Amino acid sequence: MRAKVFVARRIPDAGLAPIAAACEVDVWPERLAPPPDVLRDRVKDCDGLVSLLTDRVDAALLAAAPRLKVVSNFAVGFDNVDVAACAARGVKVGNTPEVLTDATADIAVTLLLAAARRLGEAAADARAGRWLTWEPLGWLGQDLAGRTLGVVGMGRIGLATARRLHRGWGMKVLYTDQADVPVADRDLGAKRVDLDTLLAESDFVSVHAALTLETRGLFGADRFRRMKRTAVFVNTARGPIVDQVALAEALRSGTIFAAGLDVTDPEPLPAGHELYGLPNCVVAPHVASATVGTRDAMARRCADNLLAGVRGEPLPHEVRPAGSGG
Ligand code: GLV
Repeated sequence: MRAKVFVARRIPDAGLAPIAAACEVDVWPERLAPPPDVLRDRVKDCDGLVSLLTDRVDAALLAAAPRLKVVSNFAVGFDNVDVAACAARGVKVGNTPEVLTDATADIAVTLLLAAARRLGEAAADARAGRWLTWEPLGWLGQDLAGRTLGVVGMGRIGLATARRLHRGWGMKVLYTDQADVPVADRDLGAKRVDLDTLLAESDFVSVHAALTLETRGLFGADRFRRMKRTAVFVNTARGPIVDQVALAEALRSGTIFAAGLDVTDPEPLPAGHELYGLPNCVVAPHVASATVGTRDAMARRCADNLLAGVRGEPLPHEVRPAGSGG
């Protein structure tokens, strides 16, 4: 009998086709996520689920899906999945690491440049007829060359971002992580420091940490106060790592210079939110992995995990519960 699979949104054919070739597939056709009760109903007799970061996979969902063997998350992040609850029911969890590292690092650099050089504000002014002449004191931003980058979370994406900014702009690299990252130290001359030192010494602070109990709300008012007044803050990780009220105040008061965000809390950030109204804040709608090639590669990786899971084989990219040693 063919395995039954629910795919919680249309994903690229590069991943959908191999799943459809092997399984009986139900694809959620809407642009928005299935509501939780609908999701629960659609997975009730499924062997596999392809979830997105907008779908909550929790104990209630798992209880409604007794046949489920695998949750293949179409993302590298998996804070939407209760991995411990999955493990308790013997449900494997997969994610899509590596293939989106370059695209995400590219967006971190894009946001850093846009915020440092006031691109959002300048482009909006030009379009609105506020470009009156070449102004010696107009739209002055921050230089990048030779400045200091602070990477919060030196994983694959943090490292790829640091490589770009060290090799392209000669930036000195500081970072925080649980342990030294020898490849960063060796290749980039990077130095692991405590967060207070990083905040005090960095001209650019880029967040690449996973969302966990420890990182939720990590950037509050006190953290912004410790940064330079010329600092640019970039977040391409997860919105809840930042206290947005504190960030908005830091941007409004000039406590920091500017921010570039690809992630917010909530997502989508509602129209009219105060962060959109701040000229020194660039907000992108969570597009870091949004290139044709990257999304195809994510879809393939997602299909590989899903198909391995429904066949009872080890997942090529399995997420293991914290503390399991995996
Ligand atoms: C996107 O945010 C991802 O985790 O892949």
